[in-house]
Amino acid sequence: MQLGGGLLWVGIAAILCIAASSVDAATTTRPIIGILAQPGPNTGEQYIAASYVKYVEAAGARVAPIFYNETADNVRTLVASLNGVLFTGGGADISVGTQFYSTALVIYNTILQLNDAGIYMPLWGTCMGFELINNLVSNANVLGSVDAENYTVALDFTPEFAYSRMFGRAQPIIIQNLATKNITMNNHMLSVYVSTFNATAALTSFFNVLSTNYDRQGVHFVSSIEGKKYPVYATQWHPEKNQFEWVNEVIDHSADAIYTMQYMANFLVGEARQNSNRFANAAAESSALIYASARHLYDSGETADASFEETYVW
Ligand SMILES: *[C@@H]1O[C@H](CO)[C@@H](O)[C@H](O)[C@H]1NC(C)=O
Ligand SMILES: *[C@@H]1O[C@H](CO)[C@@H](O)[C@H](O)[C@H]1NC(C)=O
Ligand SMILES: *[C@@H]1O[C@H](CO)[C@@H](O)[C@H](O)[C@H]1NC(C)=O
Ligand SMILES: *[C@@H]1O[C@H](CO)[C@@H](O)[C@H](O)[C@H]1NC(C)=O
Repeated sequence: MQLGGGLLWVGIAAILCIAASSVDAATTTRPIIGILAQPGPNTGEQYIAASYVKYVEAAGARVAPIFYNETADNVRTLVASLNGVLFTGGGADISVGTQFYSTALVIYNTILQLNDAGIYMPLWGTCMGFELINNLVSNANVLGSVDAENYTVALDFTPEFAYSRMFGRAQPIIIQNLATKNITMNNHMLSVYVSTFNATAALTSFFNVLSTNYDRQGVHFVSSIEGKKYPVYATQWHPEKNQFEWVNEVIDHSADAIYTMQYMANFLVGEARQNSNRFANAAAESSALIYASARHLYDSGETADASFEETYVW
């Protein structure tokens, strides 16, 4: 009996050792998120709305801009040095054949390849970034018109949310706020209809739908998605506007909304902490960071696109 007990403990210890050694401990406490810049606000310029930068900074990450007109090789090298990438909202032409779409495709493919190689690295899309990711994954234009500009609602969660990475471990108050309070700000004329999503095998095989919404006309669209296999996430709504945008739109700045959206930022940056990607050296890192190169931080009075409080422009 005693011997059996001893063997049992040896067995458990062996299992624990195997489990411990199979965990990839490669993480970082200095995450850097790449944000893809887009054409505008004036011809010959490109920009990132500052709210996205502040959003990831508030969760403990720094930002490196990814210029949409960079060469594919340079984009691949840069992405492999980053801990995650964010595709923002905005009004860029995301059609196949544009340089913006081509660069987004290089980023997407690079992130899938890194994940396939065992490097856990997230890609996030917000609003236009959500639309872009759906088109990239389906390799088609899956967008339809909706009436959802300046439209702030609560999420209609699907049953899948409870088992998701994005929401599955959120405190109940976060889920309650998202599900019952009008705090998720939509500002889009296009989206992915639930019917289109369901009919597109490339999307149903890649993503779980975590939430949907109805637009003002009753059109049912997908509003939050998460990759089944890959850490690829997107929301049609804006988790960064509540904290950082004060333009004349319906944006909820209540303490409940801010607490909830800070959870979203912490989630994204938490995912980016799960790899140890880094730049070759300190000089390469500092020249890639947004601190090094942004030409101006305009306030909205100066930008052509007054839907942002502040904007980084190159
Ligand atoms: C990329 O765009 C910027 C303007 O945002 C421009 O200054 C730069 O020359 C462009 N680079 C190339 C390689 O076209
Ligand atoms: C949220 O907005 C919807 C319509 O968009 C409205 O019917 C509902 O009463 C609002 N809910 C709250 C809690 O304000
Ligand atoms: C889409 O698929 C989900 C999950 O299978 C299902 O619950 C929903 O009824 C479907 N909706 C439409 C419009 O096809
Ligand atoms: C958004 O809606 C609010 C409330 O209806 C309105 O006051 C505001 O002008 C709208 N903003 C835009 C940019 O349409």
